[in-house]
Parts: sequence; C-alpha cells; structure tokens
Amino acid sequence: MSQEENLPFNEKYTLPPYKETYRRSLEDSERFWKEQALELEWTKPFSKVLDESNAPFYRWFPDGLINITQNALDRHVKTWKTNKAALIWESESGESRTLTYGQLFNEVNRLARALKDLGIKKGDRILTYLPLMPELPISLLASARIGAVHSVVFSGFSHQAIADRINDAKAKVVITTDYTVRRGKKIPLKQVVDEALKQAPSVEKVIVVKRPHFEDTKMTEGRDVYYHELVSRTGYKKVEAEETSSTDPLFILYTSGTTGKPKGIFHLHGGYGLWTYLTTKWVFDLHDNDVFFNTADIGWITGHSYIVYGPLQVGATTLMYEGVPDYPNPDKWWELIEKYNVTVFYTSPTAIRSLMKYGEEWPKSHDLNGLRILGSVGEPINPEAWRWYSKNIGHNELPIVDTWWQTETGGIMISATPGLGNYMLKPSANGLPLPGVEADVINEEGTRAKDREKGYIVIRRPWPGMLAGVWGDPDRYISTYWSKFKGVYYPGDYAVKDEDGFFFILGRADEVLKIAGHRIGTREIEDVLISFPGVAESAVIGVPDPVRGEVAVAAVVLKQGYEPSENLKKQILSHIKDNLGSLVIMKDIYFVTKLPKTRSGKIMRRLIKSVLSGQQTGDTSTLEDETSLDELKKIINEFE
Ligand code: WT7
Repeated sequence: MSQEENLPFNEKYTLPPYKETYRRSLEDSERFWKEQALELEWTKPFSKVLDESNAPFYRWFPDGLINITQNALDRHVKTWKTNKAALIWESESGESRTLTYGQLFNEVNRLARALKDLGIKKGDRILTYLPLMPELPISLLASARIGAVHSVVFSGFSHQAIADRINDAKAKVVITTDYTVRRGKKIPLKQVVDEALKQAPSVEKVIVVKRPHFEDTKMTEGRDVYYHELVSRTGYKKVEAEETSSTDPLFILYTSGTTGKPKGIFHLHGGYGLWTYLTTKWVFDLHDNDVFFNTADIGWITGHSYIVYGPLQVGATTLMYEGVPDYPNPDKWWELIEKYNVTVFYTSPTAIRSLMKYGEEWPKSHDLNGLRILGSVGEPINPEAWRWYSKNIGHNELPIVDTWWQTETGGIMISATPGLGNYMLKPSANGLPLPGVEADVINEEGTRAKDREKGYIVIRRPWPGMLAGVWGDPDRYISTYWSKFKGVYYPGDYAVKDEDGFFFILGRADEVLKIAGHRIGTREIEDVLISFPGVAESAVIGVPDPVRGEVAVAAVVLKQGYEPSENLKKQILSHIKDNLGSLVIMKDIYFVTKLPKTRSGKIMRRLIKSVLSGQQTGDTSTLEDETSLDELKKIINEFE
C-alpha cells in the first residue's frame, strides 16, 4: 500500500465531475436517480423512485414498466446502430461470428418466439449450460424478452451443481449444446445435462445447440429438441418485449456463501438494468464507438453485467472469446485486441499472473495501441501483476480501473471512474465509491474505523443494482447481508479507507475462498468431502498460490477401517471434481487422526492455516488438544 509510487496518469486528475455527481447522488438522491433512470426507455414511467416500506427488501422504481431488452436491443435497432456490430464472437476452434444489433435482435426474437411456442411464460425459469457462444447471450436476452427468469450455470460445473440449481429454481427449460472445445479437447456438455436431469424432474424441455464438426449426441424423444430446428419451425415474426415491471425478476445467479448450499442471488429488470447501464458508462467510459473485451465467462456476474447487459445497453460492441488465453499460444487475447481494435479491456488478476509467466514478448508482438482503459476484477491485484499489466498492456499510460463489486451488488461499486473524469488511482487502491454508493469501513463493534484501520466494508444505503433477495429464502437474505451490523449492507470483505476516502479491499472476512477469482465456500467443499464414504471429518482452508491467488487444502480424518493412501487421495479428489467441477483447485489433502478444535468443538481453521503456510500459530490457548497441531506439522514436514 505504498504511496511513493507515482503513476504517470495522475496528472490527468480531473475530479470535479465525479465529485459533483457523487455529492448530488447522496444529497439529492431522489432527483438524482430520477434523472439517471430517465436516460433509459420506459414502457410506463415510474412515479416513485424507491419503495422502502419492506426494507431491507428495497424496490426501485416500483410502479415503472421496463424490460431490459428494450434498452439493450429495440432502442438501438431504431437507429443507425442496427447495422453496427453488437457482438463479435470467436472460438478456439476457429469459428467466428459477428452479429449487428439488427441481427442480434432478430436472433433473440426467433428464440423468444420459440420459447413462447413451447409454452414458456412470464416468470418461468430457464437454465442455461452453455460455453461462451452467441447462443448464450441470445438465450439470456430471449428469456428476458418474454419475462422469463434466466439462470446461467457455468459450463465447467458438474451435473450435481446443475441438478441443485434446477431444483432450487424449479427450472422448466434447459438450454445447452452438444460439445465445447477446450485446449483442442472435445468436451461433451449435453451428456452432463442428461446426468443432472436424472435428479431434476421439473425440466420439461432441453434445447440443444448443435455444433458443427461433431457426431450427433443422444436426444431424448419428446424432451430434447435441437435449437436450429426449434427456431425455424415458424417464419420470422417480431416478439414484443413482455411488459415487465421494474421489480420483476430478470435472473437468478447462484453463488457461494459460508454455508454448504449456494444461494440464488436474484436481480430485477429496472434497478439492475439501470445500474449496469450507468456503471458501464461511469467506469469504462463506454460509448457506441467502443469495442469492449471482457475476458470473464457469462457463467459469472461479471459476464452478465459487462459482456451482455452493460455494453449492449450503451450500444457498444462486445467481444466474446470461447477458449483459454494461452492456447494455442499465450498471445490469444493480445491477438484479439489487435484484430478487433479493442478499446477497453477487462480481466482478472489471476489471468494476468498466468500470462506473465510466458514473458513480455507475447504482448509486444501485437499492436495494442487502440486500448484506452484497462480493468481488473475478482480479487485484490498484487503489485507485480499490476505493474506487468500496466507496462505491457497499458504501456505505462492507461488507467487500470480496479473494480470492486460482487454478484450481489449487480455492478461495480468502488473503482476509478474515467467516464466521470476521475482517473485518480493509487497503488493497490480500488478507488472511490461510485455515485449513490455510501460505502464505509467499520470495526467489530460497528463504529466507524479510523483512517487506515482495518475493518469491514459496509454500504449504508440501498443502490439500484442491489440484489433483490435470495431466491426462495428471504430469511437467508436478511441473515447474510443485513444482520451482522444493523441497518447496513454487509458484503463480507475486509477493507481500509485512507484519509482521501480511497478504499483498499483486502479480501474475504468469512469462510469463502477465491480460487482464481472464483468464489467457493469452505463449507461447500467440506460437505462434499464428508459425503465421501471413508471421510469422517474435514477442514478446508485456503493457502496462497502464486498464480491463482488462493487454492484449497483439506485436513481429513478417516473413518475406522480406512487407511490413508495415495489411491484414496485420488479417489477423494475425483469425488470433489464430480461434485463441484474443475474450478475447485485442491492443492493437497492431509490425512490426520484429529482436527485442531476448541474445547467447545469448533474447528480452528486459523491454526491449520498458519501451520500450512509455515507461520507462527499464535495464541493456541483455546485449543483442546495440542497434539493435533503437532501431528499436522509432522505430516507437512514429511511432504516437503
Ligand atoms: C468478491 C465477490 C464482482 C465480480 C467478480 C466476483 C472479491 C471482487 C475485487 C477487487 C478485491 C475483489 C471480493 C468480493 N473481489 N473484485 N477488485 N478487489 N477484491 O464476484 O464471485 O460475487 O465475488 O470478490 O472478495 O466480495 P463474486
């Protein structure tokens, strides 16, 4: 957090527009939000800005009618933009496609009509299990257009994850594809859906996108239908956007928390629509002549907000790549930036770290001069990665917006805001809160932390992009986000704020890991470990990793009759992969005979963590049995 380092673009500080906008957003908030919201097209304008009567279930623009696709599509199709690229797509296998706003609009209408013909109605849930191919954003927009609720499952997740999400959301339709390709390897997806559907009875139809070059996949008569056949059953006819209220649900996206079961975070047409629109302009300064490349997957909120809804609502061009950044060569992204004249680029620290190791010649061999703004998201960016990113991609000139936000916040909350003239950056700082975001740092007692004192970040008032709730579980919404401190939203991150009001997010304050920027609860992994026949008890912790930021390690106690072995370890690892997919990187499993616990039986993960990272264990006075730690230390020494 050193302040010595002076960034060259600090000269460009032009704070006044930001400052004035921020001030007005808090002091005259009703008028401010009204003005902002009227930049969007409404089917029926709202008369009320915010309904607080059922707090903390805040509802924005409650009596307005708006459908997010009107602002993402119809609005542009009425103008010259109908012939400009909305979506550019390329895949590892060499396929590519560019859809103008007009073409995207038509594709969305074709699928919307087909879904209606299948009997899908407003409020029904549609689950997608698709890689980054055009049919994914098309599915989301078609769902939104008919007032249905989409729920994207990341295409690397397991059949179990799909089944759990279908059952929680009671989805009627699944949209998937037969195959995707990763590092030259064919990966069947439809097969995973088939497996999931054995335990997910609510699904009536499976729509399958057929990829060229592959053999047919198994289709179930009456249930499964090919996408291309479905959408060509009738001639083209435009589907008017369903008259959704500002407070109708747009999507559910599942994310990990501190308990075992992922929670369905849901967002609404009006508030989420406005927040993604505004933050795209404020943070990325995105205009209709920009080409925006966000390397995230639409399986996460980053892709929802800043591949699909934000860039399309502002009428920019969004670029989407199906593949990994280092295959066939580690310059795939730099090549795309050059090839498509990308102006704004958004990625994660873990991706930067993974590309750094290949050396500087890869980005050097490309013309990256079209870039104006760089972005980072997902976890704190370490100084080495920041410097490499700035030097090699930003030529030590471009602002790097380090955007802090969450699935729950709908869009960016803390960042520099070039679109409001605020390029002000400090090393390691995320920046200042966006207009409307009343962020603060408080300590355990709930009082405001002093400047540079570590505490919890909280948000003191509602904002349009905020989650509407946890699907089917209103109590969990209140207990997770509104109970730790009274009357404020609790995100679960540690932070400090400095004397200039800059926020530095320091990482999770709860039992949630960030593996390569992906969020996973330790409890979620422990529940899967315990479901393995030989496992009696387990404790999962995160340990630092040079590329992924953090990876998981487990200490496992076996049941009587089971002996530790390499083979057993392998079986347990594959059990985790089957249940949680390939994102959970388990660095190791240590077999122990007991876990360090307090006298009241609480597992002391903190101690396991110190032992594993070779640090002092600190205070162990509450530990019930000191030998548990000695055993762990011995095992680790044997390994190294
Ligand atoms: C958690 C939310 C928001 C899109 C991606 C992740 C961490 C996110 C930053 C950042 C430091 C960050 C926080 C947050 N996080 N961005 N720029 N600096 N930490 O969404 O999966 O909901 O995870 O990611 O810990 O709470 P998510």
